Amino acid sequence: MTPSPSIHAARRARLASQLGEGGVAIIPTAPEAARNRDSHHPYRHDSYFFYLTGFTEPHATLVLFANGESWLFCQPKDLEREIWDGIRLGPEAAVTELGVTRAWSSTEREARLPEALANQRCVWFPFATHEGLANQVDGWLQTVRARVRMGVLCPSEQRDLCALLDEMRLFKDEHELDTMRRAARISAHAHVRAMQYSARMLRAGQEVREYHLDAELMHEFRRHGSQSVAYTSIVAAGANACVLHYRADAAPVRAGELVLIDAGCELDGYASDITRTFPANGTFSPAQRDAYALVLASQDAAVAATRPGARFSDPHDAAVRVLAQGMLDLGLLNAQQHGSLDAVIEQRAYARFYMHRTGHWLGMDVHDCGSYVEPSEADQVTTRRDPLTQQDVLVRPSRVLRPGMVLTIEPGLYVRPADDVPKDFWHIGIRIEDDAVVTASGCELITRDVPVGIAHIEDLMRA
Ligand code: GLY
Ligand code: MN
Ligand code: MN
Repeated sequence: MTPSPSIHAARRARLASQLGEGGVAIIPTAPEAARNRDSHHPYRHDSYFFYLTGFTEPHATLVLFANGESWLFCQPKDLEREIWDGIRLGPEAAVTELGVTRAWSSTEREARLPEALANQRCVWFPFATHEGLANQVDGWLQTVRARVRMGVLCPSEQRDLCALLDEMRLFKDEHELDTMRRAARISAHAHVRAMQYSARMLRAGQEVREYHLDAELMHEFRRHGSQSVAYTSIVAAGANACVLHYRADAAPVRAGELVLIDAGCELDGYASDITRTFPANGTFSPAQRDAYALVLASQDAAVAATRPGARFSDPHDAAVRVLAQGMLDLGLLNAQQHGSLDAVIEQRAYARFYMHRTGHWLGMDVHDCGSYVEPSEADQVTTRRDPLTQQDVLVRPSRVLRPGMVLTIEPGLYVRPADDVPKDFWHIGIRIEDDAVVTASGCELITRDVPVGIAHIEDLMRA
């Protein structure tokens, strides 16, 4: 589904209506990033800019006025440059193609921005995401101020546009959900492909390394039209799974060990984010099975807690409860030392084996924007002492889940070797991650084209 300009025009209109009288918003796209010498990183647009325009060329800026008027600065048509770098839309076509009110060459931006800001009250721009933008805005405002003796008014207020856009982006519309479902499906099939490759090659006596599985993922992403990974893939064999930010490297994938893959494609600007953990040769050992079943049960509990009206923190709390009980049952935590389940949770003793949160918002960015605090309750602050750091932490009420929000559900268990930990569990690292859309009655898991059940995984790896 190609986004029609009307989707972006409707978003611009919604944003414009929130700028207040005399409000102007400035949203540049992302800069190009050099890799080394003449090589650049593959270009990726800015998510806010893309959300409002659907436009993916670099060197572009959107200016939006409270009355709904929109200006676009973009690369001018230039035959010489287009021979080298590719076709540019150009300002003339931008008006019809993107539905903006007026468009100019990006070379005119410095001269026209002060014009856009003159006689306005408030300038909105993203505070946190565009390095150097605040200084540029200051420069444009200086130019306006130089003309106040001629009766020109200069905006007296600067406000963070992220506050408005984050709230809009947090609730996905049908077009976004459709794209995210397609991205999720591609990623799920890529995980299946990597699992089956691993088992098949090991059965055939062939060497398998982490980068082989990474290549299988990438092949599946690209062959279905994904433009990129949504984040650097983690392919972690054996003990590497206990390194949370591991990358796909060169370690051998060995029969008898688990492999943790955390990988998702980006499709048409939207991310997917899946983790699966599977036995390299297709069969779980008894200890791997016990640990995996525990993480799966914790994910089931978190999924059940993901529904409208629940808090963002509820899936995490539900997962922690199951994991903590399992740590006691499996002997990872000693009940004599740590006491009851409630004590394990209260003292955060489980954090030795589960040290991250159970999810995050997902959208155009893998860790998508959106407040994790319920806006209407943001002033209800309480203080809690963290039992591990002994530091006081300020806590605000967690966000209430509503239909259209998308989040990941990703509990895990990471066991490093230690004298007080049963040896069978040493080096086991497991995470199971799915992407969930909050619906009217619960949640829809959009990543289950790759299974999570033990028997299902063993079956598909035998196939
Ligand atoms: N892949 C990044 C994350 O799971 O948060
Ligand atoms: Mn994630
Ligand atoms: Mn992930």
